[in-house]
Amino acid sequence: MPKPDMTPGRVRVAPSLLSCRFEKMGEEIAAVQRAGADWLHFDVMDGHFVPNISIGPLGVEAARRAVPDMVLDVHLMISEPDSYIEAFAKAGADILTVHVETSRDIRWTLEKIRSVGVGVGVTLNPATPLETIEWVLGEVDMVLVMSVNPGFSGQSFIPESIGRIQVLREKIDQGGLSALLEVDGGVKPQNAAEIREAGVDVLVAGSAVYGAEDYAGAIEAIRG
Ligand code: DX5
Ligand code: ZN
Repeated sequence: MPKPDMTPGRVRVAPSLLSCRFEKMGEEIAAVQRAGADWLHFDVMDGHFVPNISIGPLGVEAARRAVPDMVLDVHLMISEPDSYIEAFAKAGADILTVHVETSRDIRWTLEKIRSVGVGVGVTLNPATPLETIEWVLGEVDMVLVMSVNPGFSGQSFIPESIGRIQVLREKIDQGGLSALLEVDGGVKPQNAAEIREAGVDVLVAGSAVYGAEDYAGAIEAIRG
């Protein structure tokens, strides 16, 4: 399992597999790696926390085999994250990001992720107040700002997310914290510059990469 390079100050692009052609998943994963993707973003949905079902630990394990040296950034949109942390770590995840809305005790959940030896991420839905995660910013390797309501790719970027990214950027910098800031949902070459300027380190992009003719061109345009 590769150790994710968590150094801030470098913009990374993480294509989301949710938009790939599932019948060719192995090829689609290798294709974005060849096209220069920094990480691979993996959306796990349980049909309960979000109104869609995607893939679980077996899918992560398959991706790990397809790209042994690529960082697998796993976004858990599931109601009971605590019960699956070990399974996803075993499957080969490098970073596990949980929604604050799904945890009974977010601090406990983050510690549990830390204890299995993978990167620790926290996220929140667009309508969830930032205060719910601000108090754990010092305990995570990454904070993810959802810029759509999770569940589906291909939705439009919610403009208010820019302000939320800016607030978190300031908190991370002022606190001298090392957490990376990631954004997920509706990221396109057309809005990527504004999003980067707001202060993100990692841009997730599903349809903008996998819907493009030229994966490398889309990734470069988003990375800027
Ligand atoms: C949304 C997922 C996203 C999504 C992004 O629930 O978390 O990762 O696949 O897709 P685009 O970039 O098309 O909005
Ligand atoms: Zn995601």
